Amino acid sequence: MRTPGIVITGRGGAGKTTMTSNLAVYFRKRLQRDVLTVDGDLYLPKLGFHFGLYLPRISLHDVLKDPSLNPFKAVYHDERTGVYIVPGSPNLYDVLNLDHRQLARVVWEFKKRYDIIIVDSPVGIPFDTLSTFNLVDYQLIIVELERSPIYSVERMIENEVVKLKAIGDEFGLKVGVILNKVREARAEIGGVIELVEGSIGVPVLGVVALDERVPMALNEGLPVVEAYPKCRASVDIQEAGENLVKWMFGRKVEKQEGFFQSLFRTVREFLNPYLHWE
Ligand SMILES: Nc1ncnc2c1ncn2[C@@H]1O[C@H](COP(=O)(O)OP(=O)(O)O)[C@@H](O)[C@H]1O
Ligand SMILES: [Mg+2]
Repeated sequence: MRTPGIVITGRGGAGKTTMTSNLAVYFRKRLQRDVLTVDGDLYLPKLGFHFGLYLPRISLHDVLKDPSLNPFKAVYHDERTGVYIVPGSPNLYDVLNLDHRQLARVVWEFKKRYDIIIVDSPVGIPFDTLSTFNLVDYQLIIVELERSPIYSVERMIENEVVKLKAIGDEFGLKVGVILNKVREARAEIGGVIELVEGSIGVPVLGVVALDERVPMALNEGLPVVEAYPKCRASVDIQEAGENLVKWMFGRKVEKQEGFFQSLFRTVREFLNPYLHWE
């Protein structure tokens, strides 16, 4: 299987990093494949925090600055969730004089080793990660409703999604939307989905509730689907994850088989002519 790549975009605070980390955990559990997350928010990297990684010894910034450094040295494996993470450096000093186009070189290397790659992006127009748009296949736009005034919500969303979609289209990416931080009481959600799917023509792949467990999990350094798998947001994220699996791989995708299943399949295939012998 060639490595599918997803780039996650959206406004600041919309939940991009939250979705990056949680969808990665979901894909790992659901597909048993090696999932790598890359912190493409080079100025305010926070992906590591979502996995309790606060001061990486070797960061993405180190491998971006030094092409002779093996990029795999910046990959961390989270034993609790099975997800691989490439965290950025929290030091302001490391951000200066950075050539963000180096990100494409590094992601290119990672594509050789991992099964699914998710690139987290900075706010707004994702200049830092633009160089990777040629290497990925999907763009997931995270839209939050929480801080949108009701009277202008549609105009704001249209503005945001249309612009980001135009960038995705430029690179031939398949584009989808996740609505995040949705309060149950917000009645206009139906209208928003209609706007995004009907007028803009982008599928809404998930609607995730505003849930205090999400920041609580962040404080614990563990994605919410792992920390509180039964809470409202986790259930919604898992549903979005399942929609994404179907969107990306079609309906027939199954877990990559384990050793015994593979042995069983080999034996069965070997016996097949005899079992079906007439
Ligand atoms: N569904 C949600 N419910 C409640 N809080 C959320 C939800 N999604 C994200 N958050 C919180 O919002 C803040 C911003 O999320 P983050 O993923 O860092 O956004 P971004 O990466 O888009 O800037 C974090 O404190 C996070 O815990
Ligand atoms: Mg972020």
